[in-house]
Amino acid sequence: GTANVGVVGLAVMGSNLARNLASREGNTVAVFNRTEEKTRALLDEHPEAGFVPASTYEEFAARLSKPRTAIIMVKAGAGTDAVIDELLRVFEPGDIIVDGGNAYFPDTIRREKAVRETGVNFVGAGISGGEEGALTGPSIMPGGSDESWATLGPILKSIAAVAEGEPCVTHVGRDGAGHFVKMVHNGIEYADMQLIAEAYDLIRRGTGRSPAEIAEIFAEWNTGDLESYLIEITAEVLRQADAETGKPLVDVILDQAGAKGTGAWTVQTALSLGVPVSGIAEATFARSLSSHPEQRAAAADLPGPQEPSLATETEGFIEDVRLALFASKIVAYSQGFDEIRAGAAEHAWNIDPGAIAKIWRGGCIIRAQFLNRIADAYAAEPDLPLLMTAPYFTEALSRGQAAWRRVVVAAARAGIPAPAFSSSLSYYDGIRADRLPAALVQGQRDYFGAHTYKRVDKPGTFHRLWSGDRTEVEV
Ligand code: 6PG
Repeated sequence: GTANVGVVGLAVMGSNLARNLASREGNTVAVFNRTEEKTRALLDEHPEAGFVPASTYEEFAARLSKPRTAIIMVKAGAGTDAVIDELLRVFEPGDIIVDGGNAYFPDTIRREKAVRETGVNFVGAGISGGEEGALTGPSIMPGGSDESWATLGPILKSIAAVAEGEPCVTHVGRDGAGHFVKMVHNGIEYADMQLIAEAYDLIRRGTGRSPAEIAEIFAEWNTGDLESYLIEITAEVLRQADAETGKPLVDVILDQAGAKGTGAWTVQTALSLGVPVSGIAEATFARSLSSHPEQRAAAADLPGPQEPSLATETEGFIEDVRLALFASKIVAYSQGFDEIRAGAAEHAWNIDPGAIAKIWRGGCIIRAQFLNRIADAYAAEPDLPLLMTAPYFTEALSRGQAAWRRVVVAAARAGIPAPAFSSSLSYYDGIRADRLPAALVQGQRDYFGAHTYKRVDKPGTFHRLWSGDRTEVEV
């Protein structure tokens, strides 16, 4: 074989990744697609890439040097299993199959186990950065064995984005670890997007600024603490006018948010791990709420506040929103990293949170300067119990908390929904609370189900004889 790496699945993400691979020194790329026209089209459009085409899996395997390395770029799901089966027919022990799709991590764990039994290595690799990232440099989150990383590492490093001189790829951990981390990346992406959307809504409805004016506010914010790809593209989107109507584009886009499922997976997984990712959950639910037009129409007549009190001192309000956005963002990332910690513990993955923060600095959708602060926090304290308790974040939260409260109050007064802002603030107040009403919940549980409780003043487990004389017994 003459190619050192192959790509199966030549839709946009696959062909862009193949072109990225081909553009890097030392790579020769074999390409295969189920329908051959796509392969032909890619070869015709990109003769410079020097692709090695294959029209059957046998031919594809024959074109690859050993150990063979194939990256599958098909829509996550049954198609992935079908391609794996085909590759297993023609691959040999020691070869490497990489799934670069947005697979659900339990599927990756299952596939890795099954493929490993044949002697072939299986690597589930999260790839972030959309179509452009695939072409110019994504952030890559590979799982799998150390053995496969030895071969795959240099190839992935050659195509990944570079942040501060370092490639945005690291060996995340065994089997499903890479796809798990990519899933949490997407959950954080949902939270980041929702927080930005709430900030926009609050400023627009709270101060009457136009989308174009708010675009300038976001552009300005992008020069400070909030600097990030998502803030940058938000300004671009808000600046855009609709050619047909002349209206701001954001006013002609139907306000029903789609979702392909990765946010929901993040929340479902967090629920089973017992990790409160409330910001990510609210962001996911906000998309669901938006997507029920019949319910929204039925609820449209429900009353709002008597006298919606809009912000009066608008400059101050806008700065408050900026501070509230930053504080809520810290909570969302802290919750996301908490889920990574819990997932790693559950699956015995040795995930380095600081390394994850570093590979998210470039290439991916949530890329931001901010990720440097997270990497610093874990470098200073690798066993940090909660990201937001690191000094930099504690300081930012104390600087922002008064503004954050004012914004949540203003939102409630004006009847503007701010689910991610307010749930993040509640999380903040919950996690820092000296005492929580969980004590009362324990009392209720003991009352109706004899679920027992512990005491603050002595060890042991207790139950009250609620249906008897109400004395306490140790159980
Ligand atoms: C990325 C993105 C990418 C994607 C998802 C999310 O990291 O490059 O997260 O994976 O756009 O499909 O899409 P939804 O918003 O449709 O769930």
